[in-house]
Amino acid sequence: MASIYGPSTDVAEFHEVLKSSKRIMALCGAGLSAASGLGTFRGAGGMWRNHKATSLATPEAFERDPGLVWLFYSYRRHKALQAKPNPGHYALTELSKKMLEDFITLTQNVDGLSQRANHPREQLKLLHGSLFDIKCFACDRIEQNNYDDPFHPLLAIDSTEDDRLAAAENTAQARAAYEDPNVDTRTINPDDLPHCPKCKKGLLRPGVVWFGEALPEDTIAEVGAWIEKDKIDLILVIGTTATVWPAAGYVEEARNKGAKVAVINMDGLEGELGAASDLTDDDFLFQGDAAKILPEILKPIIGGLEKRES
Ligand code: APR
Repeated sequence: MASIYGPSTDVAEFHEVLKSSKRIMALCGAGLSAASGLGTFRGAGGMWRNHKATSLATPEAFERDPGLVWLFYSYRRHKALQAKPNPGHYALTELSKKMLEDFITLTQNVDGLSQRANHPREQLKLLHGSLFDIKCFACDRIEQNNYDDPFHPLLAIDSTEDDRLAAAENTAQARAAYEDPNVDTRTINPDDLPHCPKCKKGLLRPGVVWFGEALPEDTIAEVGAWIEKDKIDLILVIGTTATVWPAAGYVEEARNKGAKVAVINMDGLEGELGAASDLTDDDFLFQGDAAKILPEILKPIIGGLEKRES
């Protein structure tokens, strides 16, 4: 029975909806990888050193201080390579293998953990690119699946990283104190950072989508075609504040195609659920760790996960 007070939290009720669903979509965010030890963007995990993670994810930040932005992404590449996929990633992989083209995962995550959990690639849409793609800031060159750690010797994640950052902060403070615009406050001299082997001019940059940039055109077209194809029965909104557009807009698109919404998040209705905050009594809310909840709520289709967990 659906509650008259808001979204249901009843797993058995969800299992019935799941079993009768023919087409399902998942929209994932950083919370899916939280149990793997990777930080989120907003809330408690949203700071890197004394920088807001979101303030470093812009082309303007890269233009201002490419070394600082690269160190942030070098750190994230390093952490992602050390991390392991968790049972939440594996549960989505199994759902994808069972439902084939009737299930699609849209992920905002750039950490490569869904890929490493063997999520079928055709059914996994990377809305925000990948930490392991390297693009040129000037031309169209893109290199995929570069797992070098560090990507460049100057970007090694060790104790010298802190020295470089401290030096940059000191010079920034000095510039502010003396109001001298000629003091170079950049963390690493851009001439020393890796440049594009094709155009020889542009700096290399991480192949992620920054604020103000367009999402990958072909990915958006593929997702659009999947949505248009038929009715959608259910959207799983997993570990995301659903506040970053256009990704967050997929909740409404799924609703418009008939989908019930199931939110899986550490936060409940009192938290930030963005585009998924208007849950009705036809919807579901499972509050807690996605790594624990997904294997449980998807069990009728995927069975037990025990032997697949890492
Ligand atoms: N299980 C489930 N949810 C969790 C967990 C967990 N173990 N830990 C945290 N969460 C939830 C938080 O409550 C929050 O709602 O995950 C969400 C993380 O939200 P954000 O940090 O905003 O991450 P995300 O929604 O992925 O950000 C979207 O913003 O900066 C950009 O491009 C970046 O892809 C990113 C986008």
